[in-house]
Amino acid sequence: MVVSLKNIYFNYDSEKGNVDVLENVNLDIEEGEFICVLGPSGCGKSTLLKMLAGFIKPCSGQALMDDETIEGPDYHKGVVFQNPVLYPWLNVEDNIAFGLKMRKFPKNQIEELTKKHLELVGLSGFDKYKPYELSGGMKQRVSLAKTLVNKPRLILMDEPFGALDALTRTNMQKLIRHIWSKTKNTVLLITHDVDEALELATRIIVLSDRPGTIVKEFNTSYTYDIIKNKNENIRYSEEYRNTREEILKIINSQNNFFN
Ligand SMILES: Nc1ncnc2c1ncn2[C@@H]1O[C@H](COP(=O)(O)OP(=O)(O)OP(=O)(O)O)[C@@H](O)[C@H]1O
Ligand SMILES: [Mg+2]
Repeated sequence: MVVSLKNIYFNYDSEKGNVDVLENVNLDIEEGEFICVLGPSGCGKSTLLKMLAGFIKPCSGQALMDDETIEGPDYHKGVVFQNPVLYPWLNVEDNIAFGLKMRKFPKNQIEELTKKHLELVGLSGFDKYKPYELSGGMKQRVSLAKTLVNKPRLILMDEPFGALDALTRTNMQKLIRHIWSKTKNTVLLITHDVDEALELATRIIVLSDRPGTIVKEFNTSYTYDIIKNKNENIRYSEEYRNTREEILKIINSQNNFFN
């Protein structure tokens, strides 16, 4: 088991008030799973991700990685945010290499790994570009390479394609699927896009409205179908449409925003 969440409760307690965010969350993630998390806005998805990343700790319950309590952030838990986090004064190559330099990897190994990951995200030839010279999609690919180069045990992504246009988003999804199928990484990705979840996940977790708890899980294999058949027409199958419908129904019934 890579991750094990046991009976998690979390609230934000400040002078502004006390907000229950997560309640009774139980989740085990096995090696190589691609988990997508869906749920109404504000239900605690990002909070859950921050907990797995080690930025925050549960108020009660246990958050474990490889059977040990998650104590804080480190390179074993790679995070990719909606807005790419890059150092503006460093070029693409140095941004990707940054973590390895901090960890004092030998120079030749840094060069080799950086080159390999530039290729993996399709950015060979852009090594000397600065972030401001890149498009949004390219910046997100650098951000991904910067995370992957550290070979994290767990990759956490919080709506990583949310700020991208539809076409770039589809390309990024393809890239993520391709990388995952090659590296067999363990991934947890938050999205508000049901199709994105259905087309990438091996398991979909649906959270309730705040305080977020897991209301339903779906084991899906569409991502394997896409890898095998190299086409995305699965979304026209009846089974796919039914699952999609079911998930949307759960999310909409949770969201009392307009009620
Ligand atoms: N640092 C904080 N201090 C106090 N409350 C917070 C803090 N961060 C988040 N919250 C509250 O916790 C709740 C859950 O927030 P979270 O960001 O986890 O939701 P989310 O499911 O990721 O939403 P979205 O889909 O809109 O990104 C919200 O009500 C939010 O106001
Ligand atoms: Mg969020």
